[in-house]
Amino acid sequence: MTSTGGNETVSTSKTQAGKTPAEKAAAEPRPVTDGEYLLEVDDLGKHFPVTAGVLRRQVAAVKAVDGVSFSVRKGETLGLVGESGCGKSTTGRMIMRLLDPSFGKITFEGQDITKMPQRRLRPFRRDLQMIFQDPYSSLNPRKTVGAIVGAPFRLQNIEAEQGVKKAVQEILELVGLSPEHYNRYPHEFSGGQRQRIGIARTLALKPKLIIADEPVSALDVSVQAQVVNLLEDLQDQLDLTYVVIAHDLSVVRHISDRVAVMYLGKIVELADRTDLYERPMHPYTNALLSAVPIPDPAQRGERRRIRLQGDVPSPLDPPPACRFHTRCWKAQDICRQVEPPLVELSPGHQAACHFPENTTVSATDAVAKAAVAPGAAPAGDAGAASAADSAE
Ligand SMILES: Nc1ncnc2c1ncn2[C@@H]1O[C@H](COP(=O)(O)OP(=O)(O)OP(=O)(O)O)[C@@H](O)[C@H]1O
Ligand code: SF4
Ligand SMILES: [Mg+2]
Repeated sequence: MTSTGGNETVSTSKTQAGKTPAEKAAAEPRPVTDGEYLLEVDDLGKHFPVTAGVLRRQVAAVKAVDGVSFSVRKGETLGLVGESGCGKSTTGRMIMRLLDPSFGKITFEGQDITKMPQRRLRPFRRDLQMIFQDPYSSLNPRKTVGAIVGAPFRLQNIEAEQGVKKAVQEILELVGLSPEHYNRYPHEFSGGQRQRIGIARTLALKPKLIIADEPVSALDVSVQAQVVNLLEDLQDQLDLTYVVIAHDLSVVRHISDRVAVMYLGKIVELADRTDLYERPMHPYTNALLSAVPIPDPAQRGERRRIRLQGDVPSPLDPPPACRFHTRCWKAQDICRQVEPPLVELSPGHQAACHFPENTTVSATDAVAKAAVAPGAAPAGDAGAASAADSAE
């Protein structure tokens, strides 16, 4: 057992032992092979209607998610980042089928689950689980830990071989809690331990995909690294696939194999994590990264902070063409007139920008061409002039 600065007492798992969070952060990303896709999201969108009057007629729509596409391979972790309100949670909740999409398609293990009725979704509910941001409100204070973690067995009518109590106690050990915690109540635990209870609940039925929505942002910094390490250890032990939603780019960098950056309901960049953090192509990603603190003072001087002007526009009336143009220091006429599609500008690295950075490919022409004729060959091959103006 280990006592932590975050007032948390947990047992450390075998794979965590001997590794500091910094060492783990420095570790290379786990190799993810070109395996089969577990989850495929195609042009997914959610427009929340805004109604008015006694007849509650729709007068507008909040374009919370406005056509996002990505795939997640088995065993991979995809990070989803972006400022508050950009549509991360809505995307996660649609994948979980907690919200019905307005348009688009969700495919899980090759099956289209977009409009599957709840009755047929039942078996998928075991495979798809969600970890929520707030471990305080997501646990019923009147239920014991045993009842909370054992609930999925009862809800799905599943008999555990060795009995539900034994199965729950094993899961508690797996997440670094003690089997003796079975009869305790959530208020008896620290924040980090409560998040472990939440994680234990999602593991009960051996899911394949876990959507973790801001899994550590409500926790003390000292406890955050432990919970992130736990998620990584569980992934290795249980062969899990994650979509990790966070506004904190450090957390996403630590845990993700690939990262998708969202802005106002759209994905603006998607790449392997090293590529994204070392060679961001979209100005918005550059701005976000420039705000991440660098622990090493020697490197701090090399990077200039990009301060974005103005607030994020309202998703009720997003700016036309490139949604980022109202805050982008590189914006030109074409940015206000033609929407840049998300295209591959180097292998595995997609960005939606007419003037991307950190690329020797002249993306502008190819992107504009693809914008005029969607489906036309994306950028990624030879180009003439460099479009990679660095962020000033
Ligand atoms: N049920 C709803 N009805 C109307 N608008 C909604 C609803 N749920 C979310 N929204 C709006 O949709 C947009 C996206 O919300 P969402 O919660 O997905 O953002 P987020 O990226 O998860 O933000 P945060 O980082 O703050 O959690 C926001 O403008 C939000 O106000
Ligand atoms: S398309 Fe234009 S406005 Fe949009 S991010 Fe790129 S340079 Fe900025
Ligand atoms: Mg959210």
